[in-house]
Amino acid sequence: MPSYLETAVEIAREAGALLTTWFERRVTVETKGEYDLVTEADRSSERLVVERLRTHFPSHGIVAEEGGGHESSSEYRWYVDPLDGTTNFAHGFPCFNVTMALEQAGELIAGVVYDPIRQECFTSERGAGAYLNNRRIRVSQIKRLESSLVATGFPSRKRHLNFNIYFYHQLAMLTHGVRRCGSAAIDLAYVACGRLDAFWEFGLHPWDMAAGKLIVLEAGGKCSDMHGELHQLRGPDLLVDNGLIHEEITGLFAEIFRGEYRMPIPAITA
Ligand code: IPD
Ligand code: CA
Ligand code: CA
Repeated sequence: MPSYLETAVEIAREAGALLTTWFERRVTVETKGEYDLVTEADRSSERLVVERLRTHFPSHGIVAEEGGGHESSSEYRWYVDPLDGTTNFAHGFPCFNVTMALEQAGELIAGVVYDPIRQECFTSERGAGAYLNNRRIRVSQIKRLESSLVATGFPSRKRHLNFNIYFYHQLAMLTHGVRRCGSAAIDLAYVACGRLDAFWEFGLHPWDMAAGKLIVLEAGGKCSDMHGELHQLRGPDLLVDNGLIHEEITGLFAEIFRGEYRMPIPAITA
């Protein structure tokens, strides 16, 4: 019998292929909130994933972003983001993925992040390491923030309440750069394989980060909230990093939370 992860990978690859066909013909974009986009691709990918999961695991619970999930008292629960990176997708910007994670009694046990454009499949099972297309991956060896490449994201919802710009500015000044690729699960996967040294974001949902979190941990990385405390999937923020720059980055975040900025925003002189 295939493992939970093998089944999840098969489903993620099928959903990824479906997303690619939608991506090639360009989809009509609708809004869920002022700037919160949704497309038929999000919905049809979710239908496919939920239908397949229900066929394979009828008793499991499913929490899916577009609301097509399934409530259950089972100790097994899937988190599904059928299209992570919808804004990119809607604009033809080729950075998006389908991601699924399985939790058992509150503990993440399997996760997949599949990028159909690059055909990169990031996977992990609890205690068994992290993989990219079946090859073992590990976080980077960068020891100092000043030599790191990091990433963050900004939500589409309630963006006027988001104060991440203060963090963005400081990190942009104190690292090699801050990337903002618009797909949180890919950011997490890139920390796991060492393309990035850290990623943080406020206001993510469990389906955005569950799989990526497990993949980072299994790749030897660290995950906490932005104060360096235990990360909760329903918590307000997330930080993942290679472990080596963790103290430095949480120390810097603590200063920013207190309103202390090492690097002032320059005045416009032009
Ligand atoms: C979004 C992406 C984006 C992040 C947002 C998420 P969606 O997910 O992951 O990178 O900055 O916070 O909501 O809406 O495209 O699935
Ligand atoms: Ca998402
Ligand atoms: Ca989504």
